[in-house]
Amino acid sequence: MSKATPEIIKRVEELRSQIEDYNYHYYVLDDPRIPDAEYDRLFRELQQLEADYPELASDDSPTRRVGSSAETSFEEVVHRLPMLSLDNAFSEDELRDFDRRVRERLGSDGDIEYVCEPKLDGLAVSLHYENGSLTVAATRGDGYSGEDITANIRTIPSVPLKLRGDDVPDMVEVRGEVYMPKAGFEKLNQRLADRGEKTFVNPRNAAAGSLRQKKSTVTAKRPLEMCAYSVAVTDESLLPDTQWDGLQQVQRWGFRINPEMRKANGVEDCLEAYNELMEKRDSLPYEIDGIVFKVNRLDLQQRLGFVSRAPRWAIAHKFPAQEELTVIEDVEFQVGRTGAVTPVARLKPVFVGGVTVSNATLHNMDEIRRLDAHIGDTVFIRRAGDVIPQVVKVVADKRPENARPVELPKTCPVCGSDVIQIEGEAVARCSGGLYCPAQRKEAIRHYASRKALDIEGLGDKWIDILVDRGMVKTVADLYHLTVRDLTSLERMGEKSASNLVKAIEGSREPVLWRFLYALGIREVGEATAKALASHFGTMEAIADADEEALQEVPDVGPIVAGHIRSFFDQPHNQETLQALKEAGVRWQEEVVEQGEKPLQGETWVLTGTLSGMTRDEAKEKLEALGAKVAGSVSKKTACVVAGEAAGSKLAKAEQLEIPVLDEEGLLKLLKEHGLDG
Ligand code: IVH
Repeated sequence: MSKATPEIIKRVEELRSQIEDYNYHYYVLDDPRIPDAEYDRLFRELQQLEADYPELASDDSPTRRVGSSAETSFEEVVHRLPMLSLDNAFSEDELRDFDRRVRERLGSDGDIEYVCEPKLDGLAVSLHYENGSLTVAATRGDGYSGEDITANIRTIPSVPLKLRGDDVPDMVEVRGEVYMPKAGFEKLNQRLADRGEKTFVNPRNAAAGSLRQKKSTVTAKRPLEMCAYSVAVTDESLLPDTQWDGLQQVQRWGFRINPEMRKANGVEDCLEAYNELMEKRDSLPYEIDGIVFKVNRLDLQQRLGFVSRAPRWAIAHKFPAQEELTVIEDVEFQVGRTGAVTPVARLKPVFVGGVTVSNATLHNMDEIRRLDAHIGDTVFIRRAGDVIPQVVKVVADKRPENARPVELPKTCPVCGSDVIQIEGEAVARCSGGLYCPAQRKEAIRHYASRKALDIEGLGDKWIDILVDRGMVKTVADLYHLTVRDLTSLERMGEKSASNLVKAIEGSREPVLWRFLYALGIREVGEATAKALASHFGTMEAIADADEEALQEVPDVGPIVAGHIRSFFDQPHNQETLQALKEAGVRWQEEVVEQGEKPLQGETWVLTGTLSGMTRDEAKEKLEALGAKVAGSVSKKTACVVAGEAAGSKLAKAEQLEIPVLDEEGLLKLLKEHGLDG
């Protein structure tokens, strides 16, 4: 291997300082300077040079942030100055008491100036820099000694490996909070849950767990950030006179400081800051559990000093807790409008996140297994922001002897149909479909929707009323509604009633695929419905087909086949189909004489605007003639129908010399095959 030339050494130094500079703008100032791609290019160049010239390796290099797979042992670090904690105020009165004590001690009648800082919910860390380079990073531990977590801290992009500027002290210790932003926490938990692994209860635990990793390569993949809040040890003559200016200094050295920080004059101003931050709490990208008020002037801080383990010059005014313990008294199963059967924990009521919570969703059986939740268990309930309350953890050693496991009911608690859990799907479902009252409105809404039987005038509002009044239980009941029934409803006039009855009448003779689609069988969309109809030809054949036969249809896999089978296996659904027949609904069976269709095997493309019909209508008619309708033109396209203002697709067709029809030509073709009007 060749030795690094002076040019190479210079380039490596240049790259390192450039990359650190971009990091600083990105992670500390939230003000990115270059596109990610450019950053990645510089980063890779540096990585390559360091690989080619190992003698240039340096712990300060930004490439080291990816961590190392060597196991660390977390040696003990004794803090030069103890890492104290803060006293808490839980009410306005307690805060006023604090301010009064401060003024009394200082013998001051005027307002005290405070710095108000969000209290980040993470872990305190202490970072030592010698001659501007990070040497040791430690956890708080018991306040007197903590653990050496330098390797893990180095992976956090917002921690400077080297201090910036020319006023860097020989020796300095900066303290701050390492935390995990909410978005990163959600993603991490999702990833862990997807793998069936244990998730973290909250961002704080996730940050703690990430810092405790033996391999820093794992920490490097966790979305951690660090925010500085104080300078602990340095030559004090180098520091400004106030907490505020000290933090500005720390920011210039390369640390992130909290952008929500502000000053307050006197306790009333502090209370205002508290309320303002409280308002913002949910919209901040990270979690905070309160606001810290610190006397701004360092000389006053010195005069106030400490009592036992907390400073007299600072206090944490706490926000309402977002986590509490309670007991799962029961688990009930709810049926949603799409048939999803969801376990819901009935809780001993608990005040959390500002409201009293007595229910929490358990999502599905996988989640219950993952949590290992039993009825009778003591659990952590978390309600952050307006997110619905979650059961995040079971306290295993508080499980009573009579705790009961949770079991998925075999039948729907609403309609008694079988509850089906398809393998590979987390959600269990009621198979009652058209019959289940919980799914009634949704089933009717789908049946009447534009792409299904297109019953104009039967909107959500009327469906709600008709179902709530008990006038319609299944879609078959729609066909028995009379104008008189409808005009008995408030705000339904004679005219709309007769229009609605007409619209319902008009849906009595759907083509088979549309009717099949309208039944709302899970995962049977328009395309699958069409494929099923043209493969089997009749409803009876579909209803009788076993899963194997169903899977002969293109695009029907085992899951869809399972859904279709379980739909037709439910006696209730059969009854509803029978009721529809008796109500005079006649679906037109498909003619399955393959090859007889005039456009069989051809691919057509529609482009531009047609004046006499919608594109969907044109598509349907072409499909009725056997054509496949595609979205883009290729050599395989048989013909392009170009309406008004056709653009690139028409140009492409001309270029490929593909036949083009205008609207008139299309109408002629349809007419020839009896598809006019
Ligand atoms: S100052 C002597 N400022 O709260 C003063 N602490 O309960 C020590 N914390 O262990 C801390 N944000 O982890 C301070 N802006 C902030 C803070 C903060 C969060 C944490 C810190 C500390 C705990 C004290």
